[in-house]
Amino acid sequence: MDLKTFAQALPKAELHLHLEGSFEPELMFAIAKRNKVEIPYASAEDVRAAYRFSNLQDFLDIYYAGASVLLAEQDFYDLTYAYLKRIAADNVRHVEVFFDPQTHTERGVAFSTVMIGITKALSDGQKDFGISSKLILSFLRHLSEEDAFKTFEQAEPYLDWFVGVGLDSSEKGHPPSKFARVFAAAREAGLKLVAHAGEEGPPAYVWEALDILKVDRIDHGNRSLEDPKLVERLVKDGMTLTVCPLSNLKLCVVNDLKQHPLKKMLDLGLKPTINSDDPAFFGGYVGENFAAVTEALNLSKAELITLAKNSFSGSFLSEAEKQSWLSRIDDMAV
Ligand code: ADE
Ligand code: ZN
Repeated sequence: MDLKTFAQALPKAELHLHLEGSFEPELMFAIAKRNKVEIPYASAEDVRAAYRFSNLQDFLDIYYAGASVLLAEQDFYDLTYAYLKRIAADNVRHVEVFFDPQTHTERGVAFSTVMIGITKALSDGQKDFGISSKLILSFLRHLSEEDAFKTFEQAEPYLDWFVGVGLDSSEKGHPPSKFARVFAAAREAGLKLVAHAGEEGPPAYVWEALDILKVDRIDHGNRSLEDPKLVERLVKDGMTLTVCPLSNLKLCVVNDLKQHPLKKMLDLGLKPTINSDDPAFFGGYVGENFAAVTEALNLSKAELITLAKNSFSGSFLSEAEKQSWLSRIDDMAV
C-alpha cells in the first residue's frame, strides 16, 4: 500500500474545523436562493472565483459574507450534514467542530436556531456515518470581551451541548489576554478551552493562551517554533497543536508546503495534528491535507501513525474511547 493510501485508510479525528468554513459554493448558492438572500455572484463558479485572498483578514471578509445567507435551522443542519458526509469518505471517525455564534446572532438569527440545526445534523452524522462529534463555541476575537460574555450568557441553557469554547477570527492586535475573564468563566463552568494562537500572531500570543487562558489545546501554533523556550514548554505540557497545512499555504503562513513546519514539530517532540480549518475555502478536507503533506514532506509510515494517534489522544474523548482508537491504529501499524 502506498503511503497516501495508508494515510487515507487510517482512522482520524479532526480537531480544527470551522463549520462556516465548510460552506461549499454550491450549497451557499442553493441556500441563498432558498432564503431569497441577494449575493453578488451569478453562479457557484463565480463564488469560487472570488476566493482570491492571501492573508487571514481578506479570507475572513469573504467567509463572513458567505455565512450571511444562513438563516434557518435547516440551513445550519444542511451545512453540518454536508461536512460530515464529505469527511466520512476520508475515514474521519471523530470531529470537534467550531461554530461562530456571533456571526449569526449579530444578523438577528436566534442562538437556539444555530444550536439546534447543528446539533441535529451531528446526531444524524453519528447514525448515518458513524462519526462521533463534539461542538466548540468560538468567540470572535475582533469583537469585545463584553460581547463574548453576552454570547456566553445566551449559551448558558445549552452548556451540555458543547464541550468547550475557542477563540478565532482576526488574530493580530487581539491577544488572548483580551478574553481572560470570559475564558475563566468558561473554565468555572467545566468547559474545555482552546484558542487560535501563533497562526499570524507572535509567540507571545501562544504564551498568553497557555498562561492566561490556560487552554487545553492550541489551534495552529506555527509561530511557536520561533521561540525555543516556548517549544520546550509545549513539549513538557504535551500540548496538542491543531495544525492546518493547506490553510497555511492558502493564507501565506507558509510559501511552499515543502517548508511547512509540521515535520519539524514532530522532530522536536511536539504534538501536531492535521486538520482542514476551512476546507471549502482552502482546497481540501482532512484527506487532502494528509495527502499533500505526505508528499511535500516525505512523511514516513511511522509519522503518519503518530499524526493519526495524536488526533485521538489530543481530542476531548474519554480516556477509554481514546485507548480504543489508539489500539485500532496500532493494529494497522503491523
Ligand atoms: N475563522 C475561520 N478560520 C479561521 C482561521 N484560520 N483563523 C482565525 N479565525 C478563523
Ligand atoms: Zn481556524
